[in-house]
Amino acid sequence: MNTLEAIRARRSIRRFKPDPLPEDVLTELLTAATLAPSGKNEQPWRFVVVREDKRPELLAVMRAGLAARKAEGVPLGSSEWTARVMEQAPITILVFNADDENPFEHKDFSDVFGNMVDVQSIGAAIQNLLLAAQELGIGSLWICDIFYAYGELCAWLNERHQLIAAISLGYADEAPLPRSRKAVDEVVRWL
Ligand SMILES: Cc1cc2nc3c(=O)[nH]c(=O)nc-3n(C[C@H](O)[C@H](O)[C@H](O)COP(=O)(O)O)c2cc1C
Repeated sequence: MNTLEAIRARRSIRRFKPDPLPEDVLTELLTAATLAPSGKNEQPWRFVVVREDKRPELLAVMRAGLAARKAEGVPLGSSEWTARVMEQAPITILVFNADDENPFEHKDFSDVFGNMVDVQSIGAAIQNLLLAAQELGIGSLWICDIFYAYGELCAWLNERHQLIAAISLGYADEAPLPRSRKAVDEVVRWL
């Protein structure tokens, strides 16, 4: 599969088979992630791989966060549904930015600028991982609903770094049709 084929074939997967993913395959995916470009080659990405034994803990922490937000009156959007997807996935990788600043408390221009660069670099790493997974026949879901449990997840892992995203992985148990995209003309301005 070439890169364009992988880009075209990738879908967000929300139903996974229970079959485990071999650890060498996971290492290959993580290696692909670390080959992404990054601002000043800082490689700000950090990964926590939550394997099957720890999945119940991950889900308990995620759900404790959702319950806390609900009690605070925060609308939960699609997050309960996302938690159900995470519950099926044999592997979920939590992705961090190796920056100790609280992302919700930026103080000055250089903080904001640095964070924008780092988050783009980490986005590139995540997409590399997703495309490598596609090539290897593994389904993936890029997740930001973990933000509803931001504090709870960081406390669980004793992480000072910024939580950026999660990626659930496993063999797909569905074959979704392509989701619609805006036409190129709609999103591009040629000068
Ligand atoms: C930054 C980002 C965050 C996302 N967060 C979630 C999420 O929390 N839960 C979920 O089910 N899907 C999530 N998605 C998947 C999107 O819903 C999906 O990519 C989009 O609907 C397009 O579908 P496709 O990936 O199959 O092309 C996220 C995708 C991205 C890029």
